[in-house]
Parts: sequence; C-alpha cells; structure tokens
Amino acid sequence: MNSVERFLAACARSPVDRTPVWMMRQAGRYLPEYRAVRERVDFLTLCKTPQLAAQVSLQPIDRFGMDACIMFSDILIPVEAMGVPLAFTDAGPSLEGHIASQADVDALRIPDPREAMPFVMETLGLCARALAGRAALIGFTGAPFTLATYIIEGRGSKNLAAAKSFMYSQPRVFHALLDKLAAVIAEFAAAQAAAGAQAVQVFDTWAGELDPASFDEFARPYQSKVIERIRRSGVPAILYVNGCAGVLELMAATGADVLSVDWRISLSDARARVGPEFALQGNVDPTVLLSTPARTAEAAFAALESAGPTGHILNLGHGILPQTPLECAAAFVGAPKAAVSA
Ligand code: CP3
Repeated sequence: MNSVERFLAACARSPVDRTPVWMMRQAGRYLPEYRAVRERVDFLTLCKTPQLAAQVSLQPIDRFGMDACIMFSDILIPVEAMGVPLAFTDAGPSLEGHIASQADVDALRIPDPREAMPFVMETLGLCARALAGRAALIGFTGAPFTLATYIIEGRGSKNLAAAKSFMYSQPRVFHALLDKLAAVIAEFAAAQAAAGAQAVQVFDTWAGELDPASFDEFARPYQSKVIERIRRSGVPAILYVNGCAGVLELMAATGADVLSVDWRISLSDARARVGPEFALQGNVDPTVLLSTPARTAEAAFAALESAGPTGHILNLGHGILPQTPLECAAAFVGAPKAAVSA
C-alpha cells in the first residue's frame, strides 16, 4: 500500500498493511526549516503565499515521511474573510470583531471561498502536485463553535468566559453567529475538496469546554452541517474536539468518518463507546514527545495496541509543541513501521 491508500483505507475502516500516522500542527516551529522561513515572513503572509505555504506543508513529509500532509494555513483565515480584522502577535491571534448584537452578526459577510481565500485552494493544488501520491493531502477548517469563541473573545482564552456568557445570555444571537459561520465553513470545506484535499479535518478544539447539553445545542448541529457538506463532496470528514471524553457519543452522532480524540480517554474505551462504524485518530499526549525517543515510541506503541489494527490513524491528542526534539518526532512517526517489523 502507498500512503494515500493506507490513510484512506484507515478512514474507511478497511484493512491496512500498517497503521497510518501524521501529527497535528506538524508544519510548525519545532522544525528548523519552518523557523528559517518564518524569519523572512510573518505568519499571515506565510498563510497567504501559496508557494511558501506549500513549501512548509511539505517540510515534515520530506523530513519524516508521514502518511498524510495537512495544508499549512490557520483556522482563523475564513473569519478574516467574513470581515473580522485579524492579526497574529507573539501572544497569539488577535481579532477585532466586537460582536455584541444581532446587527453585528448581520454585518458579517458570507464570502465566496474561491474569491476571498484563493490562496488556500492554490496551496492545496501546489501540495497535491508536489506530493504526487507520497502522502494523503488533508484540508481543514475550524468548526463554528470554536471560531465563534475567537470572534467574541478577540484572542485565545483559558475559560471562554466572554464567549460562554454571551452564549448563555444571548443564545439566539449566538445561534445566528454559528449559523452564519456554518454556511461559510461548509462551502469553504467543499472548495478545499474540489481543489485536491483528500480528507477534511474539522477542528472544534474548544467545544470540549461545554457541558454535554450545551455541546448538543451549540456545537453538534453546526459540526453536522459542515461534516455533511464534506461527505457530500466525496471525501472523509475528521472531527477533532480537545477534551472529548464527555461528548464522544455526540461527536459520533455528527456522522463524521473519523473521530480524533485526545489523551484523556483511552482508544479502547473510545472504541467501546462508539462501536465499529467510526475510525479513530489519536491520541498521544504531545508532552510525551518532550521526553525521550524511547519513551515516545513506547507511548505510540501503547496507542497502536489500544486502538487495534483497523480503523486507526496514529496521531497526537493535540498539536505538537514548538519545543519538541526532532528525535522524538521521528520516533513517533516511525512507530507504526517499527511495530510491524517487531
Ligand atoms: O497542523 C498543521 O501543521 C497545519 C497548520 C495549522 C496551524 N494552525 C498553523 C499554525 C493548523 C491545522 C492550525 C489550527 C489552529 N489554529 C487551531 C486548531 C487546532 C489547535 O491546535 O487547537 C487553532 C485554535 C488555531 C488558532 C491559532 N493559530 C492559535 C491559538 C495560534 C497561536 C498559538 C501558537 O501555537 O502559536 C496560532 C498560530 C499558528 N498556527 C502557528 C502555526 C504553525 C504558529 C505561528 C508562528 O509560526 O509563529
């Protein structure tokens, strides 16, 4: 099997010669070749320059040979296309949306993704050409709930106090915002599939902060809308929620092909809870990769063992950390091959 066949077979829960592997945030600051590019351009320019975005997307594949290549971009790009001013500082993203009322939500644009974000589709095209089957190409979007938290908070937040108090005090306006985001994101995801993405991952990173009833009201219906559109485009949909243990069955109810889980739940427990119809992705704690290559391999072997050979994509439970040693990243990516030859 080549990497594309292996990755797509795992998404479809078909037999594989070995478990496919990639890492969330694999194109990033732990790589010296990424930092060299970032010395010359700021983060948003990098996202919006297809030649450079494709170059950094491919860097981890060239170095480690993962089975999948996630395009380089950011989940906040479509939010900017809707009319929210976006900047990236050393402290992370900063958005000047100032959404406080229905009129503010009404003022947000519903852009045509090909017109407003042509660089994303160009990046995918360049990646597809350069990969030529060496790795499966993954597109991605943020999910409506997580994007709404950034729009309302204006930056990353520890407890989402501003976004959640908005959600509980003005639920109808919050739903209107989610609905508008879902319309934009669904078409954006479909455009990515048309441009060459062979799977699309939906990041609802912060929806694990919700109690199950609120998840069911404010996150799941909008995830479903995006996932339905991705599947209608003919590619598998991957759904990621950080801290998903309390809402795993609700994630399954979206009909996503692959559920991407964090390390706070074992893959065998996740499998027992959702049944055989879903592939699982994950779920090694990224801080394990701050130890040693041997300890990293041990954690990867444990995840492979816990998930079993079918319907599993080995990954981290959240993005790789910038201070990760290269030897540990190599040990992680090499684990499925090592497990087969052992
Ligand atoms: O996985 C990949 O390699 C593809 C690229 C990718 C990035 N961001 C690049 C990035 C992806 C898939 C994302 C998703 C993303 N972005 C999420 C969801 C997943 C997650 O990790 O929780 C979120 C919440 C964001 C928003 C975002 N972007 C934040 C909060 C930050 C600042 C924190 C940080 O890590 O610096 C970013 C910046 C960002 N996005 C960087 C990268 C490589 C670092 C920017 C730099 O080069 O200085």
